[in-house]
Amino acid sequence: MQALNTAILVALMDRRRVVLAANALYGATINLLMKILEPAGVEVHFADFCDIEGLRRVAAEHRPGVLLMETVSNPLLRVAPLDQVAAVARDAGAALIVDSTFSTPVVVRPLEWGAHMVVHSVTKYLSGHGDVLAGIVVSDEGHLEALRAYSRTTGPVLGPQESYLAMRGIKTFPLRMERQCQNACRVASWLTQRPEVERVYFTGDPAHPDAATIARLFTPGLTGAVVSFELKGAGREDVFDFMNRLKMIVPATSVGDVHSMMLYPTMSSHRELSPKHRERMGIRENLVRLSTGIEAVEDITADLEQALIIKLGVNP
Ligand SMILES: Cc1ncc(COP(=O)(O)O)c(C=O)c1O
Repeated sequence: MQALNTAILVALMDRRRVVLAANALYGATINLLMKILEPAGVEVHFADFCDIEGLRRVAAEHRPGVLLMETVSNPLLRVAPLDQVAAVARDAGAALIVDSTFSTPVVVRPLEWGAHMVVHSVTKYLSGHGDVLAGIVVSDEGHLEALRAYSRTTGPVLGPQESYLAMRGIKTFPLRMERQCQNACRVASWLTQRPEVERVYFTGDPAHPDAATIARLFTPGLTGAVVSFELKGAGREDVFDFMNRLKMIVPATSVGDVHSMMLYPTMSSHRELSPKHRERMGIRENLVRLSTGIEAVEDITADLEQALIIKLGVNP
């Protein structure tokens, strides 16, 4: 989060203090914008970044200094056409900042599509072992010196232990990520066959609403390792029940670890948003998010299966 904060503040140093952000963002990022930056005098607006014509109109109206988006939105996994968003940013004289935590450089490289700065939570896939809290800003030439000056002055730099853990983890990052993406693909298609599952959200789905963008921008066959799905007819208690029955998949508020992890957005990543705000974002009470790990995929589906079957009362 500090990496994101740093990127935004550096981009705004010589631009209009107006942020135009995608309306589907990680909950803490929305909080950073609305509870920290807005009270500090930054004007904040939201727009649908998947609607480029609409985005162009909103940008002309508010004349932002920063456009902010995630490569893959959390938790509904929409993918805005970041090359076209970059063109809107350039025309508006704004910097495009992209949080690429969910996709990582194995899946997409936003700087090559016109982004000015890319932010990753290194806590997730890049480190991969859930034992380090770290973030990084990857910058184009134009913002590098200002970023260095900002971090020298205000101090958001990694300590040696965190740096060591991140560098150790990153050695296996491409191998882990490839396996995790492949597992996600197989788990997503397995979930679509399950009667207990109402809807599956996955970036590798050929029927994904942003399939054309994904095919253009993402590495073929490696579209990400997060699968979100809705449990048919489930309320909050049913979701707790389902998650409590998981034996191998770890309930955890993170993604990108070597082991599979499940999160309940309503109670974790998006808990600080009002129910109305969540509803507007399309985050329903029966939605869970799975980050696939590197396990044998049969173990992941077996764990999901026993939790789903018991939920329906089919097993003794
Ligand atoms: C998309 C995204 N960006 C940023 C963050 C923040 O990461 P950290 O907890 O490492 O500050 C998260 C955490 O879940 C995230 O999902």
